[in-house]
This record gives sequence, structure tokens and C-alpha cells, in this order.
Amino acid sequence: MERIVIEGGFPLKGTITIGGAKNSAVALIPAALLANDVCTIKNVPNITDRDALFDIVKWLNCDINQDNSTIMIDPRNLKNVLITEELSVKLRASYYFMGVLLGKYKHVEIYFPGGCNIGSRPIDIHLNGFKALGAKVTKKGHKYILDAEELKGNTINLKFASVGATINIMFAAVYAKGTTIIKNAAKEVEIINIMDFLNNMGAKISGAGTDTIVIEGVENLHGAKIEVIPDRIEAGTYILIGSLLGDNLKIDGIVPEHNKALLEKLSEMGVKYQLEEHSIIMNKSEDLKPINVKTEVYPGFPTDLNQPMSVLMTQANGKCVMEETIWEKRIGHYPYLQKLGANITLDGNKATIIGKTKLNGTETNATDLRAGAALILAGLIASGKTYIYDIDYILRGYENIINKLSNVGAKIKIEKI
Ligand code: EPZ
Repeated sequence: MERIVIEGGFPLKGTITIGGAKNSAVALIPAALLANDVCTIKNVPNITDRDALFDIVKWLNCDINQDNSTIMIDPRNLKNVLITEELSVKLRASYYFMGVLLGKYKHVEIYFPGGCNIGSRPIDIHLNGFKALGAKVTKKGHKYILDAEELKGNTINLKFASVGATINIMFAAVYAKGTTIIKNAAKEVEIINIMDFLNNMGAKISGAGTDTIVIEGVENLHGAKIEVIPDRIEAGTYILIGSLLGDNLKIDGIVPEHNKALLEKLSEMGVKYQLEEHSIIMNKSEDLKPINVKTEVYPGFPTDLNQPMSVLMTQANGKCVMEETIWEKRIGHYPYLQKLGANITLDGNKATIIGKTKLNGTETNATDLRAGAALILAGLIASGKTYIYDIDYILRGYENIINKLSNVGAKIKIEKI
């Protein structure tokens, strides 16, 4: 077993470079299987979710070649076999193979996806979208079998602007006969990255990034290239670390527009930062003003930054409120922040955080990916040593986080126990 050990209180100086977006890459990799020739994806982050998807792509008999962060996927010998539970439960994004294999072969057999324990995480919006296109859905225990005589374009109104369902329905619709319109589509920027990849293959999609996406079905998709956009949640996590410990800490390779909601909240708190075209310089901010945050779909404050933001709130002078509206259980980190010394009271999905509190290192557990990130932030500012167990959650979504932080002065390491 391994644990992360952090000795807190050290200022962070130097440059952290942001990698490709996890939540883009985990959709782009399955998307490559929609093509009928080799696809190249650049700037793929070095995270374990990537490796879990590679296992499924290889299981489907597709070759993968990798040159650092560039991967080439050859879908020409794809065998559309059952994707086992062992493979599909490793991550939430395995469900993208549903839309891809249904869209291309009108048949897919796969088990219910995995993913962080932040709520029940149903896939009804995905399945209803597939049915609207003409698919029949059979569920046997945790296994789903989707079949369609023919996939026909349709107008699909999502009951919630689900990121995954928006992307999955795009996948299932690219080869469908006629036009599909997705209404109340999610507007996250990663969806634009996926639309661009499919259009590079010869798809005819418009509207990604807005609440209405139009997909004209086509006969063939050829090989294509795409570059993964920078990870706005990784960037936001390091921007929050910089707000707590930065000593001219430069976070490079970002798209400032993608972090607009976070930067607006940080300005409200009195955090000083210097924005450049593709980077931001962070300095530790004294005298932080309290604020209230409510998570929303893009372009609102992202749910994935809820947990790291709550650590900054423990250092504000006064009462902050963090309200989660997307996931019903994004609260796994609070008991550990309290154990570290934070003053937090929880009422359902609303946390009241009274600062400024001194945090003292202790033993903690990561309960999900972003909870783990929050514990790293807390450990970096706590006095003494903080130990974090169940670190696989963190390594799923933060590329080389130990090296990125050590290289700017953090006393952080992984040790075997
Ligand atoms: C994506 O999850 C991200 N994951 C999540 O990031 C992110 O929190 C979420 O979008 C919201 O931005 C990936 O992209 C791999 P949703 P997704 O479908 O697509 C409900 C991280 O930390 N819902 O937008 O699964 C659902 O229960 C992860 O990187 C249904 O009810 O999120 C939730 O309450 C965590 N039925 C809400 O919608 C469905 O069929 C948002 O879910 C689908 C979703």
C-alpha cells in the first residue's frame, strides 16, 4: 500500500505546467474508435484513467502506440466484444464506449460504469437519448445490451445538462440517418474539443459549447488528429494552492477564460494574481475575505473545484458557505478537514466554514478524486505532517502531482507502507 506524506508550511515558487484535460481525454480516446482509420490524440495527460481506457481499447482489439503524451489509435481491426465489469468499473468514462459502439455497430454490451463516490451517478439520460435514436436497451443485472435495427436522427431534450450524456448522444448520432438536435446540452468546454475531433474525422456537428447541438449523420469517418485542451480543473486546483502558498508561483499552459468563475470568486476574496495570455502568477494572499459559492453547470463555478475551494475558505476571515448543486454526495473531504482543525458545519449539501483556522497535520483518507486534491491543499498549509491514504483516487486525475509540487518547493512524497 502507498500513502502521500506532506510536511506543510513551505512557500511554493517556480512554474507548474498544466496537462491535457482529463474530462476531455477520457472522451476523445473512445471517440477515436468511431473512425475507420488511425487517429492521433496529442497532449493526453499521464493519469491512471487514461491507462484504464487503453485497457478497454486493447480489449476491443485496437492497437495503441504512444510517444509521450501523443497517442495513435488504430480502430481498423476493432472486435465489438462484451466489455467486462472488471474493465468498465475502473472509471465513469467507460460509458462513452456505449455511444461509440452503438453509433458505429448498432450493438454494444457493457457493464455499468464506475467513478468516484459522489452520488448515485445514474445513466438514465444517456439511455433515454439512445432510445430516442432507435436503440433497444436491455439490462441484465449490471450489464447493458444496446441494439438498433437502424439509428435515426431525433430531437432530444435533456432533463439535465449532463456532460456525459451530451457527449454520449453525440457519439451515437454521428452515423445516424438524418439530423439529431440535442437541447439543454451541457456547455462545458471539453465538449467543443470532442466536437472538433469528430468534425476533423468528417462528422457534421455544430453548436458544442451552447445549449443546442446539431449532428447531421454521415456515412464515413476517416482518421483524424486532435489536441487535448488544457485541464481547467487541474489549473484551478493549482491556482487555489497558489492562493494559499504562492511565492510568485507561475501556473503555465492555461486558458484563463476556462477558469473565469473561479477567478471572479478569488478576486472577491481579495486574492491577488497576475494574469498573462496562457499563464497566471499566484502569491499567497493574507487577509482573505469570506465569500459564498454555489456550484453550477459551466460557465458557473465548477463542481470539481468545490472541494479544493473549501480549503481556501478555511483560511478566510469569517463565515463562508459552499453549496454543492450538481452531486448529492460531494462531501467526503469534510470530516477530514474537521480532523485537521477546520471549523465546518454541514447541512445536506451546504457547508458553513468559519475561518481563519490553523490546520494541524494528521492521518486522512481520500474518498474521491477531488476530495484527495483538497486534502493535499490542506496538508500543504497544515503545520506538521499530513498523511493521505487511498491515493489511487488522486492519481486517477492529477498528472504527476507529486513531481509538479515537489519541483516548486513542496515537501511531498509517496511512501510505501
Ligand atoms: C462529468 O461527469 C465529469 N466527469 C465530472 O468530473 C463532473 O463533475 C461532471 O461532468 C459535472 O461537470 C467526466 O467528464 C469523466 P453529469 P458526468 O452527467 O458526465 C446527473 C471529476 O472529478 N445525471 O454532468 O458523469 C448526475 O447524477 C468528475 O473529474 C443523471 O441524473 O456528470 C449528476 O447529479 C467527477 N442521469 C448530474 O446529472 C444521467 O444519465 C451531473 O452529471 C447523467 C447524469
